[in-house]
Amino acid sequence: MKVLITGASGQLGRDCVDAFGDDEVVALDRHHLDVTDEAAVFDMVASVTPDVVVNTAAVTDVDACEDDPERVHRVNALGPWWLARACATVGARLLTVSSDYVFSGEWLADGRGWNEFDPVAPVNAYGRSKAAGEQLVRETLRDHHIVRTAWLCGARGDNVVTTMLRWAREHGEVAVVDDQVGSPTFARDLAAALRRLVVAGRPGTVHLTNAGQCSWFDLVVAAFEQVGMEASIVATTSAQLGRRAARPAWSVLDGTHAAAIGVGPLPHWREGLVGLLEELGERPAT
Ligand SMILES: NC(=O)c1ccc[n+]([C@@H]2O[C@H](COP(=O)([O-])OP(=O)(O)OC[C@H]3O[C@@H](n4cnc5c(N)ncnc54)[C@H](OP(=O)(O)O)[C@@H]3O)[C@@H](O)[C@H]2O)c1
Repeated sequence: MKVLITGASGQLGRDCVDAFGDDEVVALDRHHLDVTDEAAVFDMVASVTPDVVVNTAAVTDVDACEDDPERVHRVNALGPWWLARACATVGARLLTVSSDYVFSGEWLADGRGWNEFDPVAPVNAYGRSKAAGEQLVRETLRDHHIVRTAWLCGARGDNVVTTMLRWAREHGEVAVVDDQVGSPTFARDLAAALRRLVVAGRPGTVHLTNAGQCSWFDLVVAAFEQVGMEASIVATTSAQLGRRAARPAWSVLDGTHAAAIGVGPLPHWREGLVGLLEELGERPAT
């Protein structure tokens, strides 16, 4: 199987390069393929003629997205669209990664997670761009996978766990919100699941996160416990933090569909966390 991976130097992109290691991989970072460059996308897909394009390229700084929604739309919505149209010309499939941020994040009855058939209602520019990207791909290419994931942490990228460990070492104290709940998802586990999905070949939209749920506060407490970090962790709220972009409070994604099509479940987030800390050298490998 020939696989073209975009955004290959990002945290998920790097783990995808590993996960598809037994395949013929063409891994392209932004300097080798800017997904906003329509002509470059068509030329690249035509010359590589992949079986599958795995699009992990995106603008992911949620607060910065508020300042330049037009650029974000170009990368997160038009990028997947150009890729879908280019895939159509060579008969390739497109897997593009989307986000829990397409949902409003209101608390759902019975504590259920968002499923693939719930209506999207993003609350910030990043979420709007991801929802637009999804729609453009769906309308363009029947042979697609749209994978919504959440709270991504990879060993080779910036994420809450590495950021909080750094802050704790520098300042001895961290403040973490406890009013957003989701499913921390570890890039290595997700990348393996993406390959399973591609091999299974089930098209459409699917939610893939590590199992279980917690608040950001719970995640940082668990990470600090695992590495014996003694810094104090102060619980705060989204309002107190005052970030530019609104964030969904309830971000849990339902994994029923993923399990039903044989791609899920992913390991529990606590297991994924241990794996991340081992990869980071914060814990001895088990
Ligand atoms: N991070 C999360 O918590 C999270 C949650 C849910 C869903 N997701 C989705 O998961 C996917 C992977 O996210 P990630 O955390 O791995 O993000 P990441 O570490 O920020 O990686 C994204 C990569 O995309 C590249 N990129 C940006 N603009 C590009 C362009 N115009 N053309 C080509 N490449 C471009 C970036 O390159 P430069 O660094 O050189 O700009 C970066 O290497 C994205 O679709 C994201 O929306 C992420």
